[in-house]
Amino acid sequence: MRLDKLIEEQLQTSRKEMKRLFLRGKVRVDGQVTLNESQNVDSQLHRIEVDGRMLLTKERYYLLAKPKGVVTAKRDAQHQTVFDLLRKEPMVEQLAPVGRLDRDTEGLLLMTSNGQLVYDLLHPTKKVIKVYQASINECVTEEDIADFAKGIVFLDGTTCQPAELTILSHDAEANTSEVELTISEGKFHQVKKMFLACGKKVTALKRTKMGPLTLESLEIGNYRELTFVELQQLKPYFR
Ligand code: URA
Repeated sequence: MRLDKLIEEQLQTSRKEMKRLFLRGKVRVDGQVTLNESQNVDSQLHRIEVDGRMLLTKERYYLLAKPKGVVTAKRDAQHQTVFDLLRKEPMVEQLAPVGRLDRDTEGLLLMTSNGQLVYDLLHPTKKVIKVYQASINECVTEEDIADFAKGIVFLDGTTCQPAELTILSHDAEANTSEVELTISEGKFHQVKKMFLACGKKVTALKRTKMGPLTLESLEIGNYRELTFVELQQLKPYFR
């Protein structure tokens, strides 16, 4: 969470008192005096000291393997939501998903109470990579791979960043392909629209990786808290 908010909340200071603590050099992160009030801190990753007192944060980080049919929304009149899946966890109301997956997409979704991390992981300048496995209704060609590498242009003229497309298998009889796609942005329905621009349709989609995080053995429908190692891997995204 933001360092200024943490100080105000835990030391019950006014905004003015909090700012004075910074100006008097009383705020240290990892032993260094800091003036950066908006720094994103987590006491699992940073040593936070204010006027000689150690402050602790209570952020939560969950890796969810979203199933198909579940919507990435807080509430939905008809469908189960990703929040319903985490309902028994503390602070579920404070969680936010890092990006959204379509209802018919399954796979990796990070949910956290650390709003600043959500913002930074989604910011276009951070170019956090996402890896998807997709089933395609036609055979994907070498020409498609070259087009993805150049940057797909959507039917409405929007240009995508270069993306790495790999063919995993072809089913010659059914004339379909299984592919892996790595993208570094997160436009609305991006993967489906990229294939549509090549005249092809995504028939199944699964996100397997985002930045340093992977689904690995997490089964679809399950979730778990991030391990300390995974949280450390996210530290470069804490600004
Ligand atoms: N691209 C899509 O088209 N859908 C998703 O759910 C994620 C990426």
